[in-house]
Amino acid sequence: MKGRIRSITGATVSVELPGLQLNERVLVGENQLAGEVVRLETDHAVVQVFEDTLGLAMHEPVSASRSALAVQLGPGLLGRVFDGLQRSLADLQAQAGPWIDKGLRASGLSVQRDWVLTPLKQPGELLAAGEPFGSLAEGHLCHLVSSPVAGRIARLSAGRFRLDQPVGALTDGTPLLAWHPWPVRQPRPCRRKLTPTQPLVTGQRCLDFLFPLLKGGVAIVPGGFGTGKTVLEQAIAKFADVDVVVYVGCGERGNEMAGLLSEFAELEDAAGRPLMERTILVANTSNMPVVARESSIFTALSMAEYYRDMGLDVLFLADSISRWAEALREISASLEELPGEEGYPTYLASRLAGFIERAGVVETLAGTPGSLSMVLAVSPPGADFSEPVTQACLRVAGAFYLLDTALAQRRHFPAINWAQSFSLYDEPALEYFTQTVHPRWAELRQHCRQLLLEEEALRDVAEVVGKEGLQDRDRLLMQCSEQIRRDFLCQNSFTEDAFCPPSRTATLIEEQLNFYRTGLQRLQDGEPLETILKGPADATGSA
Ligand SMILES: Nc1ncnc2c1ncn2[C@@H]1O[C@H](COP(=O)(O)OP(=O)(O)OP(=O)(O)O)[C@@H](O)[C@H]1O
Ligand SMILES: [Mg+2]
Repeated sequence: MKGRIRSITGATVSVELPGLQLNERVLVGENQLAGEVVRLETDHAVVQVFEDTLGLAMHEPVSASRSALAVQLGPGLLGRVFDGLQRSLADLQAQAGPWIDKGLRASGLSVQRDWVLTPLKQPGELLAAGEPFGSLAEGHLCHLVSSPVAGRIARLSAGRFRLDQPVGALTDGTPLLAWHPWPVRQPRPCRRKLTPTQPLVTGQRCLDFLFPLLKGGVAIVPGGFGTGKTVLEQAIAKFADVDVVVYVGCGERGNEMAGLLSEFAELEDAAGRPLMERTILVANTSNMPVVARESSIFTALSMAEYYRDMGLDVLFLADSISRWAEALREISASLEELPGEEGYPTYLASRLAGFIERAGVVETLAGTPGSLSMVLAVSPPGADFSEPVTQACLRVAGAFYLLDTALAQRRHFPAINWAQSFSLYDEPALEYFTQTVHPRWAELRQHCRQLLLEEEALRDVAEVVGKEGLQDRDRLLMQCSEQIRRDFLCQNSFTEDAFCPPSRTATLIEEQLNFYRTGLQRLQDGEPLETILKGPADATGSA
């Protein structure tokens, strides 16, 4: 079906093409730019074009696709870098060089590569929608192949195939393919949601110990300019104990994405495999079209859910959600919608909740548990955490890692404010770490928090009376607390210390707290504070 362009305002194009549906994907103009129908009127439809509309002219043709904006889901997504429309950046570069031309197309999946299928079903068996019918090896992962259509299997062949070849067929003649398209805005189905119980170990002491995240949980990382959001997100992407990582560079700097790429190519995971083997990168950097940024989150999310559906633990990271919300605001403004708070559309909170709710632990259609966790950076302008995006995220997030400008200025990294951050996942995480890592994990944590809180209060007193005016036991507390902040909470992402396993986390904090406990004892025994502060020579025993 073909129509015509009626008017053009930036990336918003009004087209005359009867029969279009909301969220349908359309191809706009002579260059066939990808776009999505965002509003329907009686005599025209409004389309948001994902690519640069410079040079687009009136009356150029528009064609409908009869399908919603979709991603291709199948083997071969891992290790690749896509743009917000799931075009492989390597393929685009091969076609047109480093500068992406308009209207270029690149498939999300490669048909060049051979895969070896092991059938999990026999001919004659019933296949439910979403149920795996075969498996294949994608890197070290067992990739389960499923089909969104149900039916009885007529044939299914084992062995080598390419993605453009059917691997079997249903009795009604529907070919069985090892990939399928999925509309990005539609959450992938599961049997039911389960309660998250397993901690997601990040290797960041401050997080694992004070503000743990669970597999299937959602954490937001709000922080002002330069407070370390990107470094923290990338550190988590590198070290998190998950099977698959989907990282979306959303409206941030291109060079950070390039840095991530070259770093991941060299780094290895705990099992010694290249980190890129478990990673999918979606790049919609600040110089790429704004409209595609809005959809890039959904493109990435659908790929993350696809791997979750294989019973895997998937981590979704986005840097940053604020840039995504800004894209939403820009689109909304160009559609002349009624603005809400700070110009964001009135549906900002529900749209955000809509995609954050796609996180969680689920029982997949195959009956196995799979998890999708999220760590989302938020960059509130002027580090004002009362602004709408931070507040909307806060309502749905389970963990809140507030990055403090003052700490970042003092080079305390990660600059997580321990007084204002929180995690609602405390209980199951504490139980797990206490049972599997250190029998006194919960107790140590309680002591550590107490010490930090007491120091906070003492600091105000010390400002008035001076440190020397404090009692010896208070001076000892301040000294120990400072050591904990410096040697335990600070963790440089660019040194060997970048990853700290929970066992080491427990040992480190135990040593620090032991020093405090024995120090108190020695003070009581009449030893002078100066001798005690000289070193933890006698710091043995338990806190
Ligand atoms: N964990 C860390 N270890 C060592 N240095 C760090 C750490 N976190 C942040 N930094 C330092 O802070 C700088 C800024 O960090 P980063 O780029 O992550 O900030 P950001 O919050 O993403 O900034 P922006 O708001 O501009 O995106 C880094 O270049 C690095 O020097
Ligand atoms: Mg950043």
